[in-house]
Amino acid sequence: TGKLHTVAKAAGKTYFGSATDNPELTDSPYVAILSDNTMFGQITPGNSWKWDATEPSRGTFTFTAGDAILSLAQKNSQLLRGHNCVWYNQLPSWVTSGNFDAATLQSIITTHCSTIVGHYKGDTYSWDVVNEPFNDDGTWRTDVFYNTLNTSYVATALNAAKSADSATKLYINDYNIETAGAKSTAMQNLVKSLKSAGTPIDGVGVQGHLIVGEVSSMTSNLAAFTALGVEVAITELDIRMTLPATAALYAQQKTDYQTVISSCQAVAECIGVTIWDYTDKYSWVPATFSGQGGACPWDASLLKKPAFDGIVNGFQS
Ligand code: G3I
Repeated sequence: TGKLHTVAKAAGKTYFGSATDNPELTDSPYVAILSDNTMFGQITPGNSWKWDATEPSRGTFTFTAGDAILSLAQKNSQLLRGHNCVWYNQLPSWVTSGNFDAATLQSIITTHCSTIVGHYKGDTYSWDVVNEPFNDDGTWRTDVFYNTLNTSYVATALNAAKSADSATKLYINDYNIETAGAKSTAMQNLVKSLKSAGTPIDGVGVQGHLIVGEVSSMTSNLAAFTALGVEVAITELDIRMTLPATAALYAQQKTDYQTVISSCQAVAECIGVTIWDYTDKYSWVPATFSGQGGACPWDASLLKKPAFDGIVNGFQS
């Protein structure tokens, strides 16, 4: 057994945490487990700090839902990862359809990032300032930000976040950068170019949305990031399977969780791990990948799966 945050701390990590979301906070048994800060020393708001939730119309900011996550973390003495400032998804239509010129969109990004990071100044350990900038082949995602501003939007967002809260750690976060490949190389090149330009960048978030049976060591790839002078974190870990779940799939999933955690454990500057909610009851997976699920370490009845012991073993490896 054991408690995951306590085990992670004993292994020298800063936190073990979970994403959560506002609708789940009415589920008392769910909240009771989430609120155990020896299990989860950190939480990430799964939706309510995103652009559509925080600035639904231009210049009008709403923090009611976001602040409910802050209150929970404060009540439980848990760290917070801010998620996120600039992302192509969950954008309000006034951003995507505004046809803004470059100077205007740059100013919109600066206002958005500085306002939300400033609102939570002093409250976060880190922020995903830029989320998912790359396609899987390592080219830049041609979203409204890139199409209007080329790559400069990244520095604009990072600088705005830095001026709003100089202490929070500024991350770029993406998926399919867990192991070596074109997308990981693209992220490394971005970190290098930001560093050489003197743009503030503290960390790379490696999301970790993985598939049972397809997980391999991440150690050398994580070390390639930290060699550039940034920390890394596993920010959205879950390992999905094709349903129905079987004992064999659960056993493989335990091995796969252990592989991920031991990869982080092997890299000193891999500072923590966040699972993208702790229970299958609230996982994003089934709604996105038809017929798949079972990705989290707790099942939909809030019972621990074998994956839980894989996490403990990984920190103790
Ligand atoms: O808020 C509306 C609600 O009004 C409506 O009734 C309902 C009906 O569909 O939809 C609600 O919006 C949903 C939203 O979550 C809030 O619950 C969206 O449909 C749904 O698509 C959205 O999914 C989120 C997803 O990001 C969007 O891409 C997931 O909850 C969230 O876990 C997921 O998180 C992302 C990370 O931010 C970035 N990395 C990948 C990760 C998984 O996709």
